[in-house]
Amino acid sequence: MQTLSKWVLMVISLLWVTFSHAQRVVPVPALTAYQQECSVCHFAYPPGLLPPNSWKNITDALPKHFTANVLLNSDTQNVIANWLQTNAINPEWVGTQIPPDNRITRADWWQQIHKPSKKLTAKVWKSPYVKSLANCTACHRGAPNGEYNAKTVVIPS
Ligand code: HEC
Ligand code: HEC
Repeated sequence: MQTLSKWVLMVISLLWVTFSHAQRVVPVPALTAYQQECSVCHFAYPPGLLPPNSWKNITDALPKHFTANVLLNSDTQNVIANWLQTNAINPEWVGTQIPPDNRITRADWWQQIHKPSKKLTAKVWKSPYVKSLANCTACHRGAPNGEYNAKTVVIPS
């Protein structure tokens, strides 16, 4: 009996270690215009990954959107801009600090997670399946559902 309960305790603590830090989740609210206009070149980033003012900066500057030009009619642009700012409810791990260039990938929290990872070599970032730091879906299959999990992350090679 004693050894059995020891085993049970061990299994429980193993499960605890495995699932206590399960994954980080960010809500994925839906807006048809956002899906249509903002998932053409990359997946539609969940609004909670940037503070409201970053989204404002991004939607104010769409004709000079990083290396692209994004041209929307003003009604659609306003709908998307307002929706992004209203839905930018940042989880604690994202925080509310505006990252440089309004990039998720330049936020402190993002850098602190990815930079120290020994698995993420220069070769990985240059892989044709990854190409960009911002290509979250290449490694996080759950990203479209707002799920990021260090344990189930798949690194393409
Ligand atoms: C014509 C293509 C195109 C469209 C359409 C587009 N984007 Fe982008 N977006 C880009 C490019 C190119 C980058 C830079 C990607 C990179 O550095 O890998 C980018 C980057 C971003 C980033 C920063 C990602 C990061 O953390 O580095 C955000 C946020 C973003 N886009 C939001 C939007 C929103 C909101 C819309 C819709 C209004 C949109 N994008 C539509 C091309 C596009
Ligand atoms: C080339 C692959 C790759 C790309 C692209 C990538 N990540 Fe990651 N991500 C990882 C790896 C590997 C980890 C686990 C790091 C560790 O803890 O060792 C991770 C961890 C995370 C975590 C923490 C998960 C947890 O369990 O706590 C979050 C949140 C996250 N990534 C978000 C993003 C977002 C948002 C993007 C896109 C803007 C992105 N990642 C792009 C590989 C990637």
